[in-house]
Amino acid sequence: MHIHRYEKLWLIIGSLILFIFLGILAVQTFFLEMGPPSHAETIDPEEVRESEIFADAELQQIGDNEYEIAMIAEMFAFQPGDLEIPAGATVHFTLASPDVTHGFKITDTNVNVMVVPGHISKVSHTFNEPGEYLILCNEYCGLGHEYMANTITVN
Ligand code: CUA
Repeated sequence: MHIHRYEKLWLIIGSLILFIFLGILAVQTFFLEMGPPSHAETIDPEEVRESEIFADAELQQIGDNEYEIAMIAEMFAFQPGDLEIPAGATVHFTLASPDVTHGFKITDTNVNVMVVPGHISKVSHTFNEPGEYLILCNEYCGLGHEYMANTITVN
């Protein structure tokens, strides 16, 4: 079978480009740890409110100016309510939704995650600057969407 010279050339170029891109992906995933999360934690939305992690969750100090809190993002509030922490505190947030997809955005920080029903979202932030930070839902979630706002006071 005869393959035209140009056709061969483009087959080779096409294959090379494919392998270069796969190579870049492999380097990013295995050497730079930029791959998608492989241990995604899941939770049954119906069980979020009663679950060990989220039922009656409070801000807990776990280290020297280090805290963790499990928060429920639900129609139309974040539970528990407003938080107060000292300046310089690092807070590890664990988030889940019992109903629909919500957003979790903290103003004046780069914290901005989606809270998708069925999944547990985690994000950490160190609050170096004293002030009031707003936690906002930035995924439209229904008629009370605009009421989803909490305050983090950093003293
Ligand atoms: Cu929750 Cu918008």
